[in-house]
Parts: sequence; C-alpha cells; structure tokens
Amino acid sequence: MVKVRIPATSANVGPGFDSLGLALSLYNYVYMQYDDKVSILSRDGADIPLGEENLVYKSTKYLHDLCGKSLPGLAIEQLSHIPQARGLGSSSACIIGGMVGANELMGNPLTQDEIIDIAAVMEGHPDNSTPALIGGLVTAVLEEDKVHYVKQEIGDQLKFAAIIPDFELKTSVARAVLPQTIPHMDGRYNLARAALMAVSLYSGKYENLRVAAGDRLHQPYRMDLIPHGEDAIRLCYDSGCYAAYISGAGSSLIAIFNDHVLDFEQKVRDGLDQMGLGSWELHILSIDNNGVVVMLD
Ligand code: HSE
Repeated sequence: MVKVRIPATSANVGPGFDSLGLALSLYNYVYMQYDDKVSILSRDGADIPLGEENLVYKSTKYLHDLCGKSLPGLAIEQLSHIPQARGLGSSSACIIGGMVGANELMGNPLTQDEIIDIAAVMEGHPDNSTPALIGGLVTAVLEEDKVHYVKQEIGDQLKFAAIIPDFELKTSVARAVLPQTIPHMDGRYNLARAALMAVSLYSGKYENLRVAAGDRLHQPYRMDLIPHGEDAIRLCYDSGCYAAYISGAGSSLIAIFNDHVLDFEQKVRDGLDQMGLGSWELHILSIDNNGVVVMLD
C-alpha cells in the first residue's frame, strides 16, 4: 500500500492572486493500492465522495489514462484533516495525493515537474497544487499548460494562524464575485505588493508584510461572503500579527505572526469568543518546506 501525506496550502498570500501560495503543517493522508474493484473509505468519517467522482480517484485514474495504463480497480482510504471548501487547499491535496500515489503505483513514470503541470491544469491555477507538492512559498505562472515557478523555503520563526469559519465557501462562488476588469491603478497596486510579499517573506524583511498584504484584486470583493471576516482580520492586527489575509478563495483567514509575539493565540481566541465566533476554529501552523511525503506501508 502506498501512503501519501499532503500539506494544506494557502493560496494568494494576499495580493498574489493565482500566483503565490505556501504549504502549511496541516495534513491529509491518502492510502491506496491496486484492487479488483473501486472502493473508497474515509478513515476519520470526513464527508468525502465514495464513488468514482471522488477527486483522489479521479486524479489517479486521470494519470493512469495519461500514461496509457489500465486501472481495473483501486482501494483508497483517506484521512482528511484539511477542512473542505475553506480556502486551505483540500481539493489540491486530493489531486496531488491521487497523482503522487498513482505515479508511485505505476513505478514513477512522471517527473515532479510533469506532475506540477498536470495538477495545475486540472485545478486551473497553480497556487495551491504546486506548494502542496513541493512545499515552501511558491511563486508560479501557468502558461500554456506549463507551470513556471520558484520555490523558496521560509524561516520557521514565522507562524500562520488559520482562522477557519464554521461555513464553507466554494471557490466557484468566490471567483464568480470578481469583476471582469479592474482599473489600471489597481493592477499596479497589486503587482508591486505581490512582488514585495514574495521577496519579503523569503528575505525575512517581515516588517514589509503588512503593506505587502494589501490587495485590490479579490479580497475586497470576497469579504462580503465572509461575515465577520473584516473584524477577525482587525483582531489579528490588534493582537500583533505582521499580516492577515483571506486564504485562497476563503472562507479561512490567515494571520502571519512571529512566534515571539506573546499571547497571540490567546488574544485571537478570546477576541473570537467575544465576537460570538467561538465556533470558528483556530490552528497555529508552521510553514511546510517539504511538500508531499510518500511512505510505503
Ligand atoms: N487563487 C485561487 C483563488 C485559489 O483565489 O480563486 C482558490 O483555491
């Protein structure tokens, strides 16, 4: 049996819409082996599709078809700690888990870069699938079915508070609220900040992160879909974070803070309780600089 551990991811990192993403220390696990029929089991009772529409199965099958290998049957088991439809890369984790597992079962016919390309095309953008596979902070452009990317490892003194609301937000819904066009000055605003975000995270110039997290491409349009999101972001700044932003398409928020900031977690927890948001989850995560890990059980 092949066992694959896949990290959660936080796409956009504020201004880097569809181009920046980072991997975090929250994991899904996919176990798979060839069998004579298709069977899918959720080890933790998470509500996942148990038929051939299951994303792990679909991506496994897709890769077999692409490599000209038949897939008569497959036994899949999933352990899903990444919450679904919360902007933490659960779909990408399934796609990457399926593809990496499939590649392993087939004897690794595909290179890492080929899987990066195929996964990004399947998802439509590279900012979750690429860091899910290789970890770290990834800057990526998907052009003509090829991902051009740079991975940077991030220092582990940074912590990432994932504030996870008690409601789902589908990426398709959060993309549908975006405008077709934006003013030229908003484009300028974002590209300067996306560049500043990537290099500041990499170089450790964390005092830039607050300005770098500014965004006019997606967060202003999506915030209405996240009731209390604005208040939660303000709470994170008041509690001493460097930067806070909507993770991916939402609904989760990420606050980046230094682990020297005293009581950050407690302050945010208390603040959420006071706002009546005690049902929202708060996880303190670290960067995952490794990406997928494959183990043979
Ligand atoms: N960059 C994508 C978006 C990530 O913001 O729509 C969604 O997973």
